[in-house]
Amino acid sequence: MIKINFNNIRSKRVGQKHGLTGSFFRRSIKKYAHICSQTESERRQGKLPFLDLPYQDIRNIEDLAGQRAKKYENFVVLGIGGSALGTIALHQALNQPFYNLSNQLQRKHFPRLFVLDNVDPDETNALLQLINPARTIFNVISKSGRTSETIASLMVVLNLLKKKLGSRYKNNLIITTDAQKGFLRQFVKQEKIVSFETPRGVEGRYSVLSPVGLLPLAFTGVDIKRILAGAVWLDKFFQKVIPEKNPAYLTALINFLFNKKGKNILVLMPYAAGLKEIANWYRQLWAESLGKKYDLSGKKVFTGSTPVNALGVTDQHSQIQLYNEGPNDKLIIFIETGKFRTELAIPRFFSNTPEAGFLAGKTFNQLMQAEKKGTEIALTKNQRPNYTIKLFNISPETIGALLYFFELQTAYAGKLYNVNAFDQPGVEAGKQTTFRLMSK
Ligand code: PA5
Repeated sequence: MIKINFNNIRSKRVGQKHGLTGSFFRRSIKKYAHICSQTESERRQGKLPFLDLPYQDIRNIEDLAGQRAKKYENFVVLGIGGSALGTIALHQALNQPFYNLSNQLQRKHFPRLFVLDNVDPDETNALLQLINPARTIFNVISKSGRTSETIASLMVVLNLLKKKLGSRYKNNLIITTDAQKGFLRQFVKQEKIVSFETPRGVEGRYSVLSPVGLLPLAFTGVDIKRILAGAVWLDKFFQKVIPEKNPAYLTALINFLFNKKGKNILVLMPYAAGLKEIANWYRQLWAESLGKKYDLSGKKVFTGSTPVNALGVTDQHSQIQLYNEGPNDKLIIFIETGKFRTELAIPRFFSNTPEAGFLAGKTFNQLMQAEKKGTEIALTKNQRPNYTIKLFNISPETIGALLYFFELQTAYAGKLYNVNAFDQPGVEAGKQTTFRLMSK
């Protein structure tokens, strides 16, 4: 389902200064290989529950979606950060482009999906003006059950629903939050609202393969079993493979070694519009997990490379100038797909003109592939290290596998940096300050 080509990180390709020699890379693989067995043993002790999410029982999610999805016009997620970005990424990758613009028949009567992950008054107001709240399910998602932005959005929605539906407002709410803790769980218990549990011990950014990401997708008719099946397939592979052949370990190591070499920027550039939001999701995963002031021994370390998302081919007309000729401070990761769902032919117009003739009779698919290859070659010539993750296609299985792959990669990277990849004190600090300022 996933292939990785690391040729363009080698010093043979991008020069001694900017690449890794084979011998150094092989030595590094051996040096840090113990982190794979360490991770496996922590998992067995129940310390890495996100790795077991692909095996969870999802019947309650499927049942609820089966009973209710087609009765509503809209499904609106209220959540932020790890409680929103995974849903956005899955939705864009697995539902048709412009899904919300398609008609009911084209959506097979599944609701439109919106995610409100901000407290922008214009945006929230505009959406609430556009939809009929009585024909909408609002899924409030918050692991802590006390995130100000999400609670504020809930309060606005609650007001609207109560005005419109009176005590029947509860039918239009689903809350996904911690099983025991937090204000939202209390609210669920008091008001007897339908709820799902966020997985215990799993931080938001590692929770996409739980009810957090799966419930909204099930409501749009995506077969969520297939998403998990892809992740299971990859997990089984990881459990068998030696570190030298473990792509999550190898890519974590590459990202880490290049960061040590001064490549402080990590670009993720998918060549498929449907994967754009996966790069945005990854940006959070990598940044929030590895951007840390202290290492595990309490020493100040200020770790982390800065993840940047770009999109092929669009950003070839924007970012690529900088990547090719600006400071050589980046490691670039491409994602490409072996197959798109569509093969789009370019009609045979303008055949005798140099500007357009070469395009006539070809396909968008060929053009996309050639542009990716061209960018890769140009970057390599300019001694810019890069590697490519190639998906067989874009399907629930490959996307499930890809998300799981990135999560494991990030957990390995935490071990390489010797930081806690599962906390976010810098985010919590901001939350506390907002809380104090608003209380005043
Ligand atoms: O990854 C994380 O833990 C964070 O990004 C959280 O998802 C984000 O802060 C929202 O928190 P909560 O789900 O508690 O509302």
